[in-house]
Amino acid sequence: MKASEKLDYKNIYNKWWHRATIYEIYPKSFNTTFKGITAKLDYLVSLGIDALWLCPIFLSPFVDSGYDVADYYKVNPSFGTMEEFESLLMEAHDRGLKVILDMVLNHTSDLHPWFQSAQKDQKSDYRDYYIFGQGKEDQPPNNWISSKTLQSVWTYNDRTEDYYFHAYTKHQPDLNWDNPRLRDALYQVLRFWLEKGVDGFRLDVINKIAKAKGFKDYTPSINNPYADAMYENQPQVHEYLREMNDKVFTQYPDAVTMGQTAGVTYEQACGYCHYNQKALNLYLQFEHMDLDKGCAGAQKPYTTKALLKALLPWQQLAEDGVWPTVFFGSHDAPRMVNHYGANNERYSDKSAKMLFGFQMCLLGTQVVYMGDELGLRNKCFESIEAFEDIRSHDIYEARIASGSRVEEVLQDLNRTARDHARYPMPWDLAETQKNKKNSVLSFYKAMIAYRKESEVLRYGKVESVTTKECDMIVVSRAYKRKKILMIANRSDRVLAYSLEGLCSGDIKDYELVVSNENPLDPGVLSPFEIRIYESTE
Ligand code: NOJ
Repeated sequence: MKASEKLDYKNIYNKWWHRATIYEIYPKSFNTTFKGITAKLDYLVSLGIDALWLCPIFLSPFVDSGYDVADYYKVNPSFGTMEEFESLLMEAHDRGLKVILDMVLNHTSDLHPWFQSAQKDQKSDYRDYYIFGQGKEDQPPNNWISSKTLQSVWTYNDRTEDYYFHAYTKHQPDLNWDNPRLRDALYQVLRFWLEKGVDGFRLDVINKIAKAKGFKDYTPSINNPYADAMYENQPQVHEYLREMNDKVFTQYPDAVTMGQTAGVTYEQACGYCHYNQKALNLYLQFEHMDLDKGCAGAQKPYTTKALLKALLPWQQLAEDGVWPTVFFGSHDAPRMVNHYGANNERYSDKSAKMLFGFQMCLLGTQVVYMGDELGLRNKCFESIEAFEDIRSHDIYEARIASGSRVEEVLQDLNRTARDHARYPMPWDLAETQKNKKNSVLSFYKAMIAYRKESEVLRYGKVESVTTKECDMIVVSRAYKRKKILMIANRSDRVLAYSLEGLCSGDIKDYELVVSNENPLDPGVLSPFEIRIYESTE
């Protein structure tokens, strides 16, 4: 018997974030300002969430929506003043809500005074805060192409006649984490905000802070022409995160660190987040989010089976000491319903409920992206000018330059662009849904409340049951004497099923506790239907 088989999740995963449902806010589109967000705190309380994660609020030219910080110690005036932020923090705490800031430590804005100085002068004190390299015969230092910009990660710097490194746009130079002085400067930033009372950080692309030693050329392949792996999850990331934890977070044991770690393997996730290892508390993995990602903003089809394969093994990692975080929507993705649910209006709301019911039956810290609780869908953008996001424009330009047709690129962007999730919250819709028993919002509230009361959903072991039906999702959970069985249909077909074949124990002991269909047909699941059953042995 493996030692890990004895883990009692409730005992070892016992911090507030292990129980939490976190709500992600893209401030500009969520009532615009700190005051506006404060005015919506009661809405968030009524939803039942425990914490809010604010996308970057720092001083920034907003080339990449605030993920390009020009001053870590100042808030962006478009959101309000520092006093207004502090008041938001206090009002949130008064209501029992935690506040998590989105902290961008892999890169800064090119307008950050550190970079301004480094770029002008090789002797600058800040020169070694960034990564500069010599080109070879008018070419950049190496052949690395970023999957985000579809361009070289190097930009020529006239002033010092060399190149600087940026995994994202040229306005976001990467910081040089190999420099201990830079690391200390960043730890100081973290302490500043923790002293203000924030409850932790979502750490933007924190697994990119170390680059492959030597910056050698890489070998592109047809399936993967990009060099991201050369600056993602490199061995030093573990070392730096452990140091950050030692030097900062040991002093703030109730502050959460949630690392954005795309491309992470199971082993790397263990290295970052094992409850014994003390580097990060939570990791965000993107296997399920990237299933439909083709090259350069194109979309490829995926099956329900593939979706489960991208989600469930991460759940099992809890047995090895690594707690999962579950999310289906974010500011970097198209709307959750379009991504995973119905591709038509008819079943849109029903599939929104089904997906959230499924999400909440999974183990882990839960994250809800703003507006998904209203079942929001993608928009339709008719020309490139209608897109705001720099990523959409970069993809468009690169693809048109390499010969793609305008219609084809627009069609892809209309499926995959980040702009869909960044549209202003329709507060009138929230008001309408509030009073409707059958609305998506009411379903979210009921599901969050149900999970809050349910130890089996929070701490139960996860088992997935395979069925003959390829679009049927079955998850069972067990904790102490309680069991939960969730069955869902991720298709617009009617699926026949038999409960007897799916549950352990006697079917008569199971009681239906959640559903998105009325009336129920005992032998079939209607399109996008979900049922959750509970039993006590
Ligand atoms: C990840 C963020 O989620 C995304 O929005 C941003 O563009 C990149 N990091 C760069 O900071």
